[in-house]
Amino acid sequence: MSKAISNRMENLKPSAVREVLKLTADPSFIAFAAGNLSAEFFPVEQLKKLSDSVLETSSLQYSVTEGYEPLREIVALRYGKKYGIGNSDDSVLITAGGQQVINLATQCLVNSGDVVLCENPTFVGALNAFRAYGAKIIGIPTTNEGMCLDALEAALEANDNVKLIYTIPTFQNPNGTTMPVENRKRLLELAKKYDVMILEDSPYFELAFDGEITPTIKSFDTDGYVIFAGSFSKTIAPGIRVGFSIAPKWITSRMTIAKQTQDVHTNGVFMRVVYKYLRDFNVDAHIQQYQQLYAKKSSLMLSLMDELFDKRVSFTRPKGGLFLWCDLPKGYSGTVLANNMLEKKVAIVPGAAFDTEDNINNTGFRLNFSVPTEENIKTGIKLLADGIDEYLK
Ligand SMILES: Cc1ncc(COP(=O)(O)O)c(C=O)c1O
Repeated sequence: MSKAISNRMENLKPSAVREVLKLTADPSFIAFAAGNLSAEFFPVEQLKKLSDSVLETSSLQYSVTEGYEPLREIVALRYGKKYGIGNSDDSVLITAGGQQVINLATQCLVNSGDVVLCENPTFVGALNAFRAYGAKIIGIPTTNEGMCLDALEAALEANDNVKLIYTIPTFQNPNGTTMPVENRKRLLELAKKYDVMILEDSPYFELAFDGEITPTIKSFDTDGYVIFAGSFSKTIAPGIRVGFSIAPKWITSRMTIAKQTQDVHTNGVFMRVVYKYLRDFNVDAHIQQYQQLYAKKSSLMLSLMDELFDKRVSFTRPKGGLFLWCDLPKGYSGTVLANNMLEKKVAIVPGAAFDTEDNINNTGFRLNFSVPTEENIKTGIKLLADGIDEYLK
């Protein structure tokens, strides 16, 4: 029956991250592969009470696609007032996570064969969404300052059917890097010059270790070139599946129609729970707990890597988020190392999984520092250093 599957599914690959997670369901595995949060701060008790308080006929009824109005308003207020995201030409759409914003924006803007430019490496969920709509994906090389803008400009110059520039400018997944403010402004200028929309995917920007929030690209967007994708997955909990876009009204109205073909509207109970959580609790204090915990864990991981890793392995030093990225010397493959590490019961994700070309020779691998305990970080980095030494010798 496999011939019954549509062509559009043919280029989609199962997320390597989810596949590694299946292998590592065994609790004796040290998980550096997940993109999960540290569950110890999930506000379980508050969410329980709030769920109980909102579970009534109105939250169980069909609702408008744009989302629960009080939630839209509080999102506009929090992200508008606090971070300058969005103006009177923009509107908020509540979505099933940031992933759905990527999907909706692509569905509305990208015809089969159109070009999407993005960082290489990038978030695999976005790559699959672009592939599902038949986009031609062109990966732009990255440095410690994110997307290389000269290469981006060359790609914009060379292709006349670019429909979207997709970027994760803050604490990028997978490499943890952050694009400096000057580059953000230049990126916006390029989008304007070539008349191409930017999809700014920023689920991690509030997870800055020092609490210093880098201004979003959207906050400089006076001419309506940016769709901002936000999420409560990394600040409240991913299982609630609530995210949002803040984008020019003309695209929000199209994305709203597209959402009607996907899920009609976001879960009514959890939209209300998130609304009340934002209204009644100190969200910033909650996020600060994550900032401090991840700062501690990443700093432990990096100091052990400084001490134990072969000097030929290079790595990023993120200032927030959940991930860092390592590169083996040229000629070595992150995929081989990831496979070798399974024997040592340490799970890492090979760089090839995030590569726009699915390049098996990718020298990189991604490490997550939010999930493992400090003990696991100590044991796991030691095992990883041994694995690297065995592979590079
Ligand atoms: C860069 C990036 N964008 C979007 C998402 C999707 O998150 P969610 O749909 O849970 O908001 C993720 C999840 O890991 C991510 O890393």
